[in-house]
Amino acid sequence: MGSKKYFDKVAEQWDTMRKSFFSEAVRDKAMSTAGVLPGRLAADIGAGTGFVTEGLLHKGLKIIAVDQSEEMIHQMKNKFGDFSMIDCRIGKAEAIPIEDGSVDYAFANMFLHHVERPQSAIREMARILKPGGILVITDLDKHDFEFLKTEHNDRWMGFRRSDVKRWLVKSGLKDVKVDCAGENCCAKSRSGCESASISIFVASGRK
Ligand SMILES: C[S@@+](CC[C@H](N)C(=O)[O-])C[C@H]1O[C@@H](n2cnc3c(N)ncnc32)[C@H](O)[C@@H]1O
Repeated sequence: MGSKKYFDKVAEQWDTMRKSFFSEAVRDKAMSTAGVLPGRLAADIGAGTGFVTEGLLHKGLKIIAVDQSEEMIHQMKNKFGDFSMIDCRIGKAEAIPIEDGSVDYAFANMFLHHVERPQSAIREMARILKPGGILVITDLDKHDFEFLKTEHNDRWMGFRRSDVKRWLVKSGLKDVKVDCAGENCCAKSRSGCESASISIFVASGRK
């Protein structure tokens, strides 16, 4: 099943699934890494039902939330209603529907391991940043839990931090850092035989 079809299918259950995978501590770490300021404009790429968007909203930011899945965006709209601070857009990682150099921050939580070409997705996220804008990616470290591919449609079994660092640098970002987010992503296989606990990294860079 393709990624869009998968997320359209699980959209209604995503918030419950998400809570079992990882906690709010991940987005707190992402927002503190960026040093978000109220009134600024952030992009939430692969926004899903608005996990990061919600955190940014509470911090007083305006948000452009982008996702390929109409159903995930539909769930987000149900949750936040016609909130003037959020602009929801349907779009793909390969061609993010946001103008060049237009946002102060770009966030992507648990998005990168679902995209076909992670390096191009990072280049796209760097493209939309204003000069001085900050990109923050939170995602999985390299792992060997195959069931996340077969049961949760993951495209990549996490990433080496050295690769992520290189991709941010190649996208023209400065002050690139990749650290531990201090949180693990946890999941059990359907059979109950396998149990994953994967460390999460936080990668950041400034345009
Ligand atoms: C694991 S969910 C994470 C959602 C949200 N960021 C969160 O933390 O709850 C991954 C999201 O990325 C979106 N996604 C995956 N591949 C994408 C692509 N190529 N272009 C746009 N969105 C994509 C999916 O539709 C899904 O909503």
